[in-house]
Amino acid sequence: MKMYEILNKKRYGEALTPGDIDYVVKRFTDGEIPDYQMAALLMAIAINGMDDTETFALTKSMVETGETADLSAIRGIKVDKHSSGGVGDKTSPIVGAIVAACGVPVAKMSGRSLGFSGGTVDKLEAIPGYSIAIEKERFFEIVNTVGVSIIGQTGNLAPADKKIYQLRDVTATVESIPLIASSIMSKKIAGSADAILLDVKTGNGAFMKDIASATALAEKMVAIGKRFGKHTVALVTQMNCPLGNNIGTSLEVIEMIQVLHGNKAGRLKELCCVLAANMLYLAQKGSLEACEEMAAQALESGRAFRKFREMVAAHGGDVTLVDHPERFPEASCIKEVRAWQDGFVQGFQTEKCGMASMALGAGRENKDAQLDYTAGVCLAKGYGDPVRRGDILASLHTSRPETLDRAEQLLREGIVISGEGPKNLPLVYARID
Ligand code: URA
Repeated sequence: MKMYEILNKKRYGEALTPGDIDYVVKRFTDGEIPDYQMAALLMAIAINGMDDTETFALTKSMVETGETADLSAIRGIKVDKHSSGGVGDKTSPIVGAIVAACGVPVAKMSGRSLGFSGGTVDKLEAIPGYSIAIEKERFFEIVNTVGVSIIGQTGNLAPADKKIYQLRDVTATVESIPLIASSIMSKKIAGSADAILLDVKTGNGAFMKDIASATALAEKMVAIGKRFGKHTVALVTQMNCPLGNNIGTSLEVIEMIQVLHGNKAGRLKELCCVLAANMLYLAQKGSLEACEEMAAQALESGRAFRKFREMVAAHGGDVTLVDHPERFPEASCIKEVRAWQDGFVQGFQTEKCGMASMALGAGRENKDAQLDYTAGVCLAKGYGDPVRRGDILASLHTSRPETLDRAEQLLREGIVISGEGPKNLPLVYARID
């Protein structure tokens, strides 16, 4: 009867009490509340929303359904970073290395790719030998000695989220700001870092297509973090074009190394520096301006590259490839895609570029799919570049030749060429502190 009353309340737009929310979350996780009632509640929330008190209560109850990480063995202020995901987003290992080179510990759990958006741990696993599944004690030891360790998700953090997310996925209730905010923040809070940096992407290669919704999501997550007593900062960043030139796994590792060597300028490097500076700021290393300077220094001096190399070695990865990225195994088939008209790269349908890379074998269409580490897309032209008909726009890399035609079609749909040059595209739209 209680569940019926709760459903009725939300259906008519009333706020639920923390007690109502706790009742639902705990009983649904235990299997007492059936999927059909939970699905009805999720739809009512997606339509009628939740205020900040309700969203905080939902996050808290989800955290309480599982373990909370114990990071006390790691010395110093621990800052976590979360990206809402995008195409070519290879920032975490670069940022982690920069921040560690500035003396702030980075203990990071990252996810795998699913769909058009890539996953950091898949990229690191493209380095032969790199293990993302290490014992907790070894993880802490690497963070305390090297300064940075990136592993796969472990532990039973916020199991309610996993169960609720599966239901949202099939009931058209993924796109709800309070549901997304509580889902992401429940895992971040259970992860126990002292402070949290959120990179909320917006644009046609992101989950949140428009700036207003991305900003509303960012504000909601910052409010939740603060209520838990964690200093939380969110950046709303641009995802209307792939981040960097390479999309894939080993292709993205090669680009990470180029950025870490300081010989690759552009938006990827700029964003990595902004994110690293904000993490240093959250770790109380100084003003934001001083932290920007520190991050740039760590990169330019080669200290960040050396941290990355040490992290790869500590995880069992083959550092000869870090030293000689040209030795990464190459795809057996490489096909060039050429411009079909004169003009400018006016923009990207970024999701299509990610789908092209996935079709080549660099991403997963379902969670059991095997990756081809040689696969992906290398863009030869970026946003705003002038092109002549016949110029190489990109190359497609794969060891599965049967995927080339579909990938080429997707990529052609993903690159927009027009006679007019595009507008300036900001890197960061908003910073919420
Ligand atoms: N990522 C999450 O972890 N949860 C959501 O709801 C959406 C994106």
